[in-house]
Amino acid sequence: MVTAGPTREKIDPIRFISNYSTGKFGYEIAREARRRGHRVLLISGPTNLEPPKGVRIVIVESALEMREAVKRAIKKADCLVMNAAVCDWRAHSASRRKIKRRTGKRVLELIENPDILKEIGRKKGDMILVGFALETEDLGSNAYKKLREKNLDIILANRHRAKSGVFGDKRVDVLMVDRHGKRTILPHKSKAELAKIVLDNVSNIKI
Ligand code: C5P
Repeated sequence: MVTAGPTREKIDPIRFISNYSTGKFGYEIAREARRRGHRVLLISGPTNLEPPKGVRIVIVESALEMREAVKRAIKKADCLVMNAAVCDWRAHSASRRKIKRRTGKRVLELIENPDILKEIGRKKGDMILVGFALETEDLGSNAYKKLREKNLDIILANRHRAKSGVFGDKRVDVLMVDRHGKRTILPHKSKAELAKIVLDNVSNIKI
């Protein structure tokens, strides 16, 4: 199972909170997994990408919808690659009507979304879990902390720099950390190249 893309959290029928994720990396992982003969379910937030051939796809919008879709299918999965950029917060109460413009300050109350990966990590059993981390500082220590907190087998972390960015069809520098703490630096790789490396590492994990 692969998740990809951003989630969208409604503010009112017209507006939402989201992030810059394009879904590219997750779609490449799903494509490569299929190429290797795996049965692949791709759970995707809204993207402009063409779904890879031969991959079953479920499109969701919000973090809560993504959580439902993941939980519904997780029993059948032997590996979850959680690439989606799930919004950490949603509006406390989305308005059913368009919020009218008015002058002056407006406060939007947010509440925390569930951490899907952490929930799955708590009772993962033999399932292999791969997570991602996008950081602006302390890449190595943040990545390892997340790997432990979420009970992951592998985490891929990259640093977001204001100038170059990491979203979309870009080459990126990635730090891969496994559950034994082994760190591998993967410089200047395309997301298709990284998809191969991730899946090579997944297949090498001995359960
Ligand atoms: O803690 P952070 O959001 O940086 O962790 C990123 C990892 O956790 C990603 O693999 C992402 O898909 C997953 N995640 C999640 N549910 C959330 C937030 C992040 O599954 N609410």
